Amino acid sequence: MAKRPFAYGKGTLRCDGVALSEIADRFGTPTYVYSADAIRGAYHEMDRAFDRLPHRICYSVKANPNLSVCSLLAGLRAGADVTSGGELARALQAGFQPEQIVFAGAGKSRSEMEDALTAGIGCFSVESEGELRLLSAVAAERGAVARFALRVNPDVNAHTHPFITTGLASTKFGVPIADASDHYALAATLPGLRAEGVGMHIGSQMTDLSPVVEATQGLAALASKLLERGHTLRHIDIGGGYPIPYGDEQPDTPGQLATEIEPMLRPLGLVVLTEPGRWLVGTAGVLIVRVLYRKRNGAHAFIIVDGGMNALLRPALYRAQHKVVAVRENSRNTRAEVVGPVCESTDVLSFEAMAPDVQPGELLAILDAGAYGFSMASEYNGRPRPAEVLVDGAEARLVRRRQSHEEIMAPEMGL
Ligand code: LLP
Repeated sequence: MAKRPFAYGKGTLRCDGVALSEIADRFGTPTYVYSADAIRGAYHEMDRAFDRLPHRICYSVKANPNLSVCSLLAGLRAGADVTSGGELARALQAGFQPEQIVFAGAGKSRSEMEDALTAGIGCFSVESEGELRLLSAVAAERGAVARFALRVNPDVNAHTHPFITTGLASTKFGVPIADASDHYALAATLPGLRAEGVGMHIGSQMTDLSPVVEATQGLAALASKLLERGHTLRHIDIGGGYPIPYGDEQPDTPGQLATEIEPMLRPLGLVVLTEPGRWLVGTAGVLIVRVLYRKRNGAHAFIIVDGGMNALLRPALYRAQHKVVAVRENSRNTRAEVVGPVCESTDVLSFEAMAPDVQPGELLAILDAGAYGFSMASEYNGRPRPAEVLVDGAEARLVRRRQSHEEIMAPEMGL
């Protein structure tokens, strides 16, 4: 894993040399701060991990859809994995090459298919027979050819949080692997379709990546059977799901996975696609918040800050644990929960008993918040989403400003 970009210097936490206290003073809080160098470093490391195989890294835009983050990765020649018409528009705007975009998701609408065909995307990741038939009809109507890969559901347990497990038969994702050959045979009889590959994505944040090894075995066997039957496949997509260390654990790395699956993939002669999201941007970002109050309800101590589940939903949704540190160096610890300003008891940023002993007016940084942070933020309780800042070397650039209340209300009508 690339070197962590956040470290203390001259008494304050810094992002590649820029003081987070300075960023908070300039742009306010809550604010996400991302390190461009860390994102570049992670991309190059993943690229090297797969360099013994023909491969393409398709950044999973949902992890951090900010246009500047996307354009940074597009500039490194990454492809993109998108999951809606909105993400497709964003990926195109950010400069990803259309033919390097894969479109995933179990619920694509006709208009999303039309937009993607107009853009000339590389591949639709198809998740059901109904979707296959609609895609064929939409492409044929337009005299176009839709390249597709079936997303198979290998019924392999990713052994991660149940909410982010996607490769079990009990989840809505993909087509049972046993039915896949029949779907390709059907597709060969339908107009407007061309089989481009096979794919899967079995889960996210898999600390132990061996379920991917197991599932890749099945996927590779399917690809080889399809090739024998004359299907013109060009790629095999192993999905994303690479883990980052949120605590002190040492999760498996892309390099370890690539080494294990290389012998299964090499004989196929296909381009290996992978769709990392979290691994490329997760540790590259923090959320900075300012302390509003300290309070005590009986035995329970709270540090109330100006961004909560509206800014970072992961702790409330998954009880995810992000490290929380003081921006000022050498703060002591105290027994307290860090909570946000939202009117919900689940509005907690850190359930851990210990927290930095900071006073009102001071800053906290929630670490490893670059992935699924801003992208799951909301305006709940009438709070604007956080601002976003990209640090590149010594320069801190505002890449998304905080919206005003007027801007948030602007689309509403009828008053
Ligand atoms: N490909 C597909 C088809 C996906 O559905 C996903 C993530 C990815 C790739 C990228 O997965 P990654 O490499 O980032 O693990 N909100 C949750 C994570 C949900 C992931 C959904 N799909 C969280 O905050 O942990």
